[in-house]
Amino acid sequence: LETINSIKDLKVALSAERARANTIGFVPTMGYLHEGHTSLISNARKTNDIVITSIFVNPLQFSENEDLNTYPSDIEADTTKAINAGCDFLFTPSVSQMYPSEQHTSKTKINVSDLAKSWEGSLRPGHFEGVATVVNKLLNIVGPCSVYFGEKDFQQLQIVKQMVSDLSIDASVIQCETIRDRNGLALSSRNSYLDAAQKQQASVLYQSLQAAAKLVEIGESDPSTIEEFCRNRIISKIDASVDYIGVVDPKTLQVPDKIVDEVRILAAINFADVRLLDNIGCSPCVTK
Ligand code: PAF
Repeated sequence: LETINSIKDLKVALSAERARANTIGFVPTMGYLHEGHTSLISNARKTNDIVITSIFVNPLQFSENEDLNTYPSDIEADTTKAINAGCDFLFTPSVSQMYPSEQHTSKTKINVSDLAKSWEGSLRPGHFEGVATVVNKLLNIVGPCSVYFGEKDFQQLQIVKQMVSDLSIDASVIQCETIRDRNGLALSSRNSYLDAAQKQQASVLYQSLQAAAKLVEIGESDPSTIEEFCRNRIISKIDASVDYIGVVDPKTLQVPDKIVDEVRILAAINFADVRLLDNIGCSPCVTK
């Protein structure tokens, strides 16, 4: 594995790979790698000649009251995990490498309208603009054939797909399953803020989504009934506050009047001072 922190050096290295007709798979991350990330790297390994992972805690996607300065990091452990998962290049740019202007920001920002306004977007103004801007920049630097994202951040995934399509970026966005611990809690770098007992309790989030998905599958077609059910189940079992539960069309992220097709149930809660996001896909059972 080669670790590179300059954009210029990475471009030189990857041009050489392209000249050898090697396909490139890319996994963008903010580091503190867990099995969710390493499964993305392993997926990329299966179908590409070269796999590159970036580790960059992107200041543009954090608002002032968020954990930019305390975001967990362990570059040594990340390097070992990336090697074991089959990564060839680790791109670890500094903030000034990515945003050399005096304010360490990008004057150009990418706004994926509509999709970025709802759910996470309405609670974290500027967040998705920061995500889309850095992902666009990373895609320009790396020029991968395929880029890998987990379903856990479902709204982010849809926004990236939309951006890649709208801006005719030559990369396939590969959607990968959420990886969970044995109780069902979706893996996230921020789970490191929870102790073992809290992690166990936090799995109520996914269990509630599963129960809500079952209701859809057995024929409940009213999005607000599903939403209420899921919300009540969570707050009756753990001391959490619910930011939102949304029963949405997976592409538009809009709530349908009635559930007649596949939906995604999105959820964000605050539990033990940690914000937890998860989602589940489900479809009404079609009886003929
Ligand atoms: O999902 C993440 O870790 C980040 O939002 C991403 C895609 C690496 C952009 O900073």
